[in-house]
Amino acid sequence: MIIDTDTASDDAVALIMALVNPDIEVLGITIVAGNVSLQQASINARYTVQLCGQTIPVYEGADRPLQRTPARAEFFHGDDGMGNMHYPVPEHPVETKPAVDALIETIRDNPGIILVTLGPMTNIANAVSKEPDIVNNVSRCVVMGGVACTVGNITPAAEFNIWCDPEAARICFHSGLPIEMVGWELCRGEANLVEAEIEQIKDAGVEGLGEFAVDINRIGYQINRELLGDPGMALPDPVAMAIAIDPDICVKQSRHYVDIECHGELTRGMTVVDQLNIAAEGGENVSMWEPLVKQGPPNVTVCWEIDAPRWKALLEQSVGRRFPG
Ligand code: RIB
Ligand code: CA
Repeated sequence: MIIDTDTASDDAVALIMALVNPDIEVLGITIVAGNVSLQQASINARYTVQLCGQTIPVYEGADRPLQRTPARAEFFHGDDGMGNMHYPVPEHPVETKPAVDALIETIRDNPGIILVTLGPMTNIANAVSKEPDIVNNVSRCVVMGGVACTVGNITPAAEFNIWCDPEAARICFHSGLPIEMVGWELCRGEANLVEAEIEQIKDAGVEGLGEFAVDINRIGYQINRELLGDPGMALPDPVAMAIAIDPDICVKQSRHYVDIECHGELTRGMTVVDQLNIAAEGGENVSMWEPLVKQGPPNVTVCWEIDAPRWKALLEQSVGRRFPG
């Protein structure tokens, strides 16, 4: 697995889930600016790797979107991106190799690799633009991003990761990457941790992983309630990582043509999902009529529903490092 992340509070929990899982070999972590600056995201990722007692290489990539003005989400994640816990700067060093080259080389050298994206898709867009053929080596590209036919979290139409760099997302969605889209809508409601579950995660943790996972997400927990009106602690990146680790956590999925709005003002970054396949060419449900507006063949597997208890059980198992054998 290789993970691209704008490491802040929920990303860090997703990294832990991959790093501690004996069935997952994390070959690298590439950093992109998003929630926080590139430098801060790099510090947060390296601190998390160090907390897990590992030395996985961390590579720094894009410090801004391809075209758009950089936007941050410190209001949600805290100034340091880690719930204002202000942990010590990690000793784990950053690699000198740029993230794009690390993505290309790691994917090229590991056919069948799983790529997980947890932030704006700038690094991935740069990698597939530089070396288009690498998409053939990726077995699954699990994307925490977008919203499928519903409201967004940064505008009424769009989710933060895609909204931040819609041009990058569009390049990726048309690159041939085997994208599995895990939208923000799957990371609300019953997918969120209620107070009792938060306590359960704290108690289940070993080596401080439970407290860490909860402490860094406390600000987000509060904003989620006050700003978005959602009860519970939302953990979008860990939900996407859970699906990357255990695909059966996605219990309803289908293939659709998905494109990214890059010209709209109100709809910038919207993941436009052709749910009814009315404009899909050669889709699973061949249209009964010639599409009036031809778009393209299905290019994305959209996850529509998750098994929330199963996702939460994996989270608890991860912070407790409770794996058989
Ligand atoms: O919209 C939620 C996503 O944006 C998550 O990946 C969060 O970490 C931020 O990057
Ligand atoms: Ca993220």
